[in-house]
Amino acid sequence: MAQTTFPSEMKSFQLDGASYPGLTRMAEALRARHRFAADIVDRCAALFGARWADEFEELLNALFPTQEAVDAAVKGYAGFAMHSMRLQAAFERDLEYRSKTYEEAAAEVYFNEQHMMEEYLPGLLLSHFLWPHHYRQIRFFDELFVEAMRVAGASSFIEVGIGTGLYSGLLLRRLPHVRGTGFDISPSSKRFTETQIAALGVADRYEARLQDVTQVPTDPPAEWLVCVEVLEHLEDPVAFLRGLRATMAPGGKAFITAALNAAHADHIYLYRTAEDVLAHLTEAGFTLEQSFVGAAYKPSRPGVPVPLAAAFIVY
Ligand SMILES: C[S@@+](CC[C@H](N)C(=O)[O-])C[C@H]1O[C@@H](n2cnc3c(N)ncnc32)[C@H](O)[C@@H]1O
Repeated sequence: MAQTTFPSEMKSFQLDGASYPGLTRMAEALRARHRFAADIVDRCAALFGARWADEFEELLNALFPTQEAVDAAVKGYAGFAMHSMRLQAAFERDLEYRSKTYEEAAAEVYFNEQHMMEEYLPGLLLSHFLWPHHYRQIRFFDELFVEAMRVAGASSFIEVGIGTGLYSGLLLRRLPHVRGTGFDISPSSKRFTETQIAALGVADRYEARLQDVTQVPTDPPAEWLVCVEVLEHLEDPVAFLRGLRATMAPGGKAFITAALNAAHADHIYLYRTAEDVLAHLTEAGFTLEQSFVGAAYKPSRPGVPVPLAAAFIVY
């Protein structure tokens, strides 16, 4: 499956501090304390342009409005990224993720309140804008799935594995008449999402519920379903996908993604290619409508696995 690029990506945009105070605060915090990511904000701004800057600035102002809050989020991002880089170096050598059960990952990550609130959730949230494959995936979601919801006059959605709540928040902001229900196993994800949704001013149209979606079917049935980067966290993604397929209302559509070749503390199931994910979706009864594949960076030498984001619109 070919990697996707967007013709609208710009190459010459530069941030100015007066228009983008949140991004400027973040860039300064990274430059001052986290040299490995010293120029990442400027590089993304040059690559993705004003639309990226406007969207990111709005989120930063809502969620991290003070220098202190930005500094804490940036510290979380640095820890999250360094942790990933260390595990990725071991993965490049071993070509396997470190063996771990779902229960071990859940205890280490999802139920570890301090780790979730200080590192994992702020880190993941910022990575959605600072890692090119993550941001391109958002654009694919926005331009194809959210747009299809808008055209169809969608009234509701569910998101499974809300994590940071970023995708739910984006949907609620883009579609002012839509209501959402989000599910996650982690109390920290529920809290972080609720804080974000409230800060964005859309809490009256959203409910976050604590629920292990591998055990209990989600309710209500989903006309529009979103599930971003959950499959690789599970021991048996096909069983989970079959459960998701069963919760779909007739005629419903789903946006389902997976991280491939991306070592992380809670990544258990190793997907090596987008075709592997598509085979699981098909086995679970989904039919492909459109797909996206994006790479985190160019491989340092031929044959070295690179983290990929693969997203699928299915019905
Ligand atoms: C990588 S995060 C998902 C990212 C998120 N969609 C976002 O955009 O920020 C994985 C999430 O899946 C949740 N999760 C893992 N197993 C789950 C399960 N069985 N039921 C519900 N949520 C689960 C975790 O708590 C975590 O919040």
